[in-house]
Amino acid sequence: MPPEGAHDPGRRDFIFIAAGALGAVGVANAVWPFIAQMEPAADTRAMATTEVDLSAVQLGQQIKVMWQGKPVFVRHRTPEEIAAAQADDYGALKDPATDESRLVQQSGEAGHPEFIVLQAACTHLGCIPTFAEGDYHGWKCACHGSQYDTSGRIRRGPAPKNLVVAPYNYLTPTSIRIG
Ligand code: FES
Repeated sequence: MPPEGAHDPGRRDFIFIAAGALGAVGVANAVWPFIAQMEPAADTRAMATTEVDLSAVQLGQQIKVMWQGKPVFVRHRTPEEIAAAQADDYGALKDPATDESRLVQQSGEAGHPEFIVLQAACTHLGCIPTFAEGDYHGWKCACHGSQYDTSGRIRRGPAPKNLVVAPYNYLTPTSIRIG
């Protein structure tokens, strides 16, 4: 026992070590909820892919499905829509891409021109465009007037990019999996 008023390095070191240990436990407790949040929930994992029965999409129609919380258009294009998209492959495009390149599956295999699978969000500020409107007979966004052609390529308006192709693969000739 050191005399009264004398410095006791052993006791001081113990206090600092104890404080440090408590701090480490506190940080661990604070960090754990964040790590836990980084694990995908079971329902999120279930939505990682979305299967679509193409036989339910009539010629000239589209459906909107949800994939990972995002809307996706699956459109069954008419021969006229396909021809219009292909005719403009080398036209004045803000975000150049051939129609064929926009049909390629996630596996790298070619798609089928009848079905195009596009993320629905307008590439300007994310509104959802509607089909069969605008000068290019594709999609038009009512928010600020962006117009997309029948391949989902941006043709007019403030949107900087084409509608994004959703990653998909054919499971059978009449069904696809998105994601
Ligand atoms: S969000 Fe579509 S044009 Fe602005």
